Amino acid sequence: MKITFAKPQPPNGGAVVVGVLEGKVLTPSAASLDAQSGGALIRAIAASRFDGKRDQILALLAPAGLKFSRVLLIGLGKPETVDSLAAQGFGGTLVAQLGSSGEVQAWVAVDVVEGLKLSAAEFAANVAQGARLRSYEFDKYQTKRKSEDKPSLKKLVVATEDSAAAKAAFAPLDQIADGVFLARDLVSEPANIIHPESLADEAKKLAAIGVEVEVLGEKQMKKLGMGALLGVGQGSARESQLVVMRWNGAKDRNAAPLALVGKGVTFDSGGISLKPGQGMEEMKWDMAGAGAVIGAMRALAGRKAAANVVGIVGLVENMPSSTAQRPGDVVTSMSGQTIEVINTDAEGRLVLADALTYTQQRFKPKAVIDLATLTGAIIISLGHEYAGLFASDDDLATRITAAGKAVGEKVWRMPMGEAYDKEIKSEIADMKNVGGREGGSITAAQFLKRFVEDVAWAHLDIAGMAWSKKDKPTCPKGATAFGVRLLDRLVADHYEEK
Ligand code: BES
Ligand code: MN
Ligand code: ZN
Repeated sequence: MKITFAKPQPPNGGAVVVGVLEGKVLTPSAASLDAQSGGALIRAIAASRFDGKRDQILALLAPAGLKFSRVLLIGLGKPETVDSLAAQGFGGTLVAQLGSSGEVQAWVAVDVVEGLKLSAAEFAANVAQGARLRSYEFDKYQTKRKSEDKPSLKKLVVATEDSAAAKAAFAPLDQIADGVFLARDLVSEPANIIHPESLADEAKKLAAIGVEVEVLGEKQMKKLGMGALLGVGQGSARESQLVVMRWNGAKDRNAAPLALVGKGVTFDSGGISLKPGQGMEEMKWDMAGAGAVIGAMRALAGRKAAANVVGIVGLVENMPSSTAQRPGDVVTSMSGQTIEVINTDAEGRLVLADALTYTQQRFKPKAVIDLATLTGAIIISLGHEYAGLFASDDDLATRITAAGKAVGEKVWRMPMGEAYDKEIKSEIADMKNVGGREGGSITAAQFLKRFVEDVAWAHLDIAGMAWSKKDKPTCPKGATAFGVRLLDRLVADHYEEK
């Protein structure tokens, strides 16, 4: 779908989209259409339950007196509640309605309305981003899809008075959407296509937009003593990888970076502690933390963020085989700490342990944030509404929470503490890799904390958020790219030179 910005000059056909405020208050463009059609909009509203509440919709097909194939009314809610997220939802809703309606072109009017939380230009830019985010599709393996089942909408014109300002405001949002699409693509790909080496190859492509990318193979990781990460990958025919992506956008290229660390288990069978067969195919997306970090690096470099950010992803495939690690094995991590592997399915924390040590030792970052589809237990705690946030630093936790709220990627802070840490005491090693079933997300976070040195650290358990079985306003069902927009916003709000 191609998105352009123009001055308000209605087209000669296609679909037209206008907003209506709560209480059936027509925006100027809606009022003008109503007048041209001899009151058709007002009559349609009166004949329905449409009130202009947020995301309500009412479609008029081929209305008399107008040259459009349809007029779509979308509720904006109360003016004082209209912020960037509402605008994105508006754009997403219009694509959900028109995407496969048969319409090829749509024209959406963004008016100057009193009392909104953002300018018309920002509103227009966010409508465009929401529309683009909702238009995402992963259909490359559908070779027999009929053309009538494919999306029809090819062109969206966002019309607003200051179309130049809207276009300028959209440029960074478009780059962020590129990062989101990259993460969704990587997470959607099956595990026979995306494995550690091919995922590293995808990360390397970021060099084209100025990201410095290095890939460490098993030999180098062995030299560094990454026994925890390597133990997870040792049952797989695929070679484990560690990818380092650096974006140095700050004036001082040598200033301490923000570090983003991602769990990249390209397939999690559970290993010798094999998972049940039912639903195991979902474990192709156990690399969503890595996907979010790669997508965030894409977004930051794409919009040339004025910050130093390093992205590190640990890529492994967790498979059972005669070379796989066994329950009871003891591995030595890069930090020197030993781990008794009670359950080979608690592999993400083993991968992150070494990735965290490497990140801190090499980069001395200002702060470290890891993202991982780490535990099923976080889905029991928070469902599919919030990611779990664990942090050693209150300020960092506050910033992440606010950034998530601003972009609609919500996080909820979970507790940590000494009592939970006791649960991972081992008889034979410095720690074991699982506690009991109870508080499983928290003991997993405590495990990670043992690999965090003297730095502000936060961990996002995104197991419930990486994949959605339902359509969302700005995300069709499937891979969500959860974390990309949150991280981008966090950098914009706190780590960029203004
Ligand atoms: N990748 C899984 C966690 C997961 C489960 C993500 C469901 C998304 C959906 C992780 O590696 C895992 O297997 N965790 C175990 C830990 C347990 C063995 C302590 C779990 O959550 O069951
Ligand atoms: Mn697992
Ligand atoms: Zn896993």
